[in-house]
Amino acid sequence: MVGAVRLLQSADTENLDQMDHLLSIESMYPQNIVKYIDHAVTLKTRRGNHEEFPLSGQIWALIFSKSSTRTRVSFEVGIRELGGSPLFLSSNDIQLGRGEPIKDTARVLGRMVHGAIIRTYAQSDVEEFSSFAGIPTINALTDDEHPCQILADLLTVREKLGGWDGKRFAFVGDGYSNMARSWCWAAKHLGFQLTIGSPSDYQPPSDFLGKIDAPNISVTSNPAEAVAGADVVNTDVWLSMGQEGQSEKEAQFKSYQVNSELLAEASEGHIVLHCLPAYRGKEISEDVLEKHSKTIFQQAENRLHVQKGIMARMAKHRVL
Ligand code: CP
Ligand code: NVA
Repeated sequence: MVGAVRLLQSADTENLDQMDHLLSIESMYPQNIVKYIDHAVTLKTRRGNHEEFPLSGQIWALIFSKSSTRTRVSFEVGIRELGGSPLFLSSNDIQLGRGEPIKDTARVLGRMVHGAIIRTYAQSDVEEFSSFAGIPTINALTDDEHPCQILADLLTVREKLGGWDGKRFAFVGDGYSNMARSWCWAAKHLGFQLTIGSPSDYQPPSDFLGKIDAPNISVTSNPAEAVAGADVVNTDVWLSMGQEGQSEKEAQFKSYQVNSELLAEASEGHIVLHCLPAYRGKEISEDVLEKHSKTIFQQAENRLHVQKGIMARMAKHRVL
């Protein structure tokens, strides 16, 4: 144990209210995914009429090494709505950006703030921080996973389609991106059909699929095949943060745009999800984005409700 807080597995179903970290969808239990979404529904309904402020007197740090609009704003607003104060720390402005080790940053912040929300490159950095800081730690996007986004997306699917059981999901784009990988783990845990449509160089590798071992996940290089009969069609940028300028990669995705022609293959009543930011004319056409904008911006708003639920469950009245 490091620091003054008992460290529990994020997947500990018996201690949901004492969960300390949200590091990945991979490490979650299905029951907890459903409980967080249920909790988000409650908080969304009660927004503006909260009776409890579980972060009262607390300061939660946002440590970001990558750009953000939705994640930063939804966490900062959510922390304030729960009674706490956010402290935004760009990694460029703190010694982390000059090479101070994660474990030292973690042990300093762990003595000064009550929770940490981290957006960075390596998944191992978030995990290392969580194990050294002794405070609740949330993954706000790494190269491997974007768990908060997936929970918000699942809430959106429930709101729009009533749930995910029996639904067919398609992810069209970079099949080994953080979003695609997180969707794979969500499909593994929740059992819905997921087809990844990606160029052969950007499909989830066999060792990853072998580790997941989920017969409900399939992969194809044919985008129309991926979308065929899909109830939920999901896409994301072709070049994730940190990959800017990789034009040779982008060139392989030209036939993977989510546009009206591709969506003709989807089920009647399908929804389109995009975690945003979107690059119109690349991974999604302008007309499709605007046609599905109500869903896509509801998806963005749901980040706030889901993350408030996560933080409320993690909050402990720890005296520093
Ligand atoms: N979807 C998402 O995480 O958006 P930001 O990069 O703006 O935070
Ligand atoms: N895959 C994207 C998601 C952005 C929210 C990225 O990592 O840049």
